[in-house]
Amino acid sequence: MSLPEPHPALKTPFVQAVGIRYPIVQTGMGWVAGPRLVAASAEAGILGLLASATMTAPQLEAALAEVRSRTDKPFGVNMRVDSDDVQLRLDMMIAAGVKVASFVGAPNAKVVERCHAAGMFVIPTVGARRHAEKVAAIGVDALIAQGGEGGGHTGVVPTTLLLPAAVDAVAGKVMVLGAGGFYSGRGLVAALSYGAQGVAMGTRFLMTEESTVPEAIKAQYLAASVTDTVVSTKVDGAPQRVVATDLIRALEAKSWIRSLPKALANAHSFRRETGLSLSQMLREGAAMKKGNELTWSQVVMAANAPVMTKAALVDGRTDVGILPTGQVVGALDGLPTVADLVAEIVTEANATLTRLTGA
Ligand SMILES: Cc1cc2nc3c(=O)[nH]c(=O)nc-3n(C[C@H](O)[C@H](O)[C@H](O)COP(=O)(O)O)c2cc1C
Repeated sequence: MSLPEPHPALKTPFVQAVGIRYPIVQTGMGWVAGPRLVAASAEAGILGLLASATMTAPQLEAALAEVRSRTDKPFGVNMRVDSDDVQLRLDMMIAAGVKVASFVGAPNAKVVERCHAAGMFVIPTVGARRHAEKVAAIGVDALIAQGGEGGGHTGVVPTTLLLPAAVDAVAGKVMVLGAGGFYSGRGLVAALSYGAQGVAMGTRFLMTEESTVPEAIKAQYLAASVTDTVVSTKVDGAPQRVVATDLIRALEAKSWIRSLPKALANAHSFRRETGLSLSQMLREGAAMKKGNELTWSQVVMAANAPVMTKAALVDGRTDVGILPTGQVVGALDGLPTVADLVAEIVTEANATLTRLTGA
């Protein structure tokens, strides 16, 4: 499918500021949004965000070079502001000519200043109106307001309520993109009608041909309905939307004392990959537990969650049972190429806008 000319209403200030063709962002998903997906997004005329929170700095450097070898179009990098080597990562991004810095939560003013000095556009993701106000005060350029139906770590306010509230909270200061539950051209137009500058989608892009998630895992996602997801704090202590697999249901159903054996059994089967001995894990766990209201089973799970998520999303282990997802997973029934998906969304948005405006 060739890429369509966008309706004038889709040429939002965000599109112009970032230098892309359509007001669509492919978000930074840990273990998922790698160079192949990001380059495919850039080539399709949207903004792809490379997920670096799950990469070491050398892995990020290699990934940046790979994206650059695949496309000369603008792209961004999603990162944690609390990583020890954030300045090194910014050096790498600046050297690679990265256009957009995306943050999990609020960046600090110093980091925003450094990004701006290098000509980068700064976009954190927030899940509550007060966080939108906070990042606006720090001086970010845009924000992604992710409603509770969104994938991965997520808040409780649904997109239909959060998005207009975030738009109103930062009106005239910061551009807002809607996230959480978007997958179609009608959804894109709905976001614009709330005052957003576009949409950001995670799960929809996880379920594409260029996403490197193994086929067997994509099949597990495809089998999930909209009611087959749950927001669980049992994975790593923070609310995270995941597919309600047997592991998650077991962790959710039991008290922490009763879920501890399951968490320990999981930890045991991943011991080799994490390289942690049980005593090391318990020591680390004790430190983690001190500053947080975590139960012991949460501590054990949290220590292992990144490795377990990687085992599923990268290594294709279908027995693991940690599959971060948005509820939108239940509305998806195929694995299109990124270009076909973008063309389909824009075609539907164009038709919707024509229907509504008669023009
Ligand atoms: C598998 C997966 C991994 C994710 N990892 C990250 C991450 O590393 N950083 C981040 O800011 N958001 C992460 N998210 C959230 C997404 O970037 C995005 O905001 C969310 O998926 C939007 O909701 P949707 O899935 O309904 O489109 C992740 C989501 C998923 C599904």
